[in-house]
Amino acid sequence: MSIVGISGSLSNPSRTTALVELIAGKTASAAFSKKAIITVGDIAPSLGLALNPKLLPAEVSLAYEKLASADVIIVGTPVYKGSYTGLVKHFFDLLDPKVLSGKVAVLAATGGSDHHSLVLEHQLRPLLSFFGLHTVPTTVYVKDSDFVKEEGGSYRLNNPDVSQRIDTIVEQTLWLLSRNTVQSIAA
Ligand SMILES: Cc1cc2nc3c(=O)[nH]c(=O)nc-3n(C[C@H](O)[C@H](O)[C@H](O)COP(=O)(O)O)c2cc1C
Repeated sequence: MSIVGISGSLSNPSRTTALVELIAGKTASAAFSKKAIITVGDIAPSLGLALNPKLLPAEVSLAYEKLASADVIIVGTPVYKGSYTGLVKHFFDLLDPKVLSGKVAVLAATGGSDHHSLVLEHQLRPLLSFFGLHTVPTTVYVKDSDFVKEEGGSYRLNNPDVSQRIDTIVEQTLWLLSRNTVQSIAA
């Protein structure tokens, strides 16, 4: 079992990466599985220049290999100009449309205010449905004011209601994973 988180943030430190790491950590603990995090900001220079899916830079190919081997993917993006970031879309534009089919996906986003929380339902969910992913019904959108900065500079979620929502997401993820297992045994 493998959990792979993708943070679409270009910042470091990043609230989005902190959120994706938190969801991935809780899911991995509950599923007794390993986890890995891909940060789009880390591969941004090579990803941004990549135009041909058949000629991908090594670090982009490596990220796609990690995704292909995942059972659950957690996709987190900051809201930029009312949408997911351009590089998140580019990351998915270059990906083979077949490799994620049937996996389970968790949707997460961060934003400066509540105004764009429906980005998750109106934009990110349709994108992930295109790939044939089973998206978890409960999503999580976190405002900047719900994070605190730690002494070392990284962000930490500081809202118990959001934390509880993540626990619900983990429960739903495990349920969808159990259905996937039943289907693969029956096949
Ligand atoms: C270029 C840019 C555009 C943004 N546009 C929006 C927006 O339309 N709506 C919103 O709520 N927040 C917007 N924000 C705020 C970020 O979504 C928010 O600060 C987020 O938590 C940043 O995540 P990060 O710490 O991972 O970079 C924008 C930030 C940037 C840098």
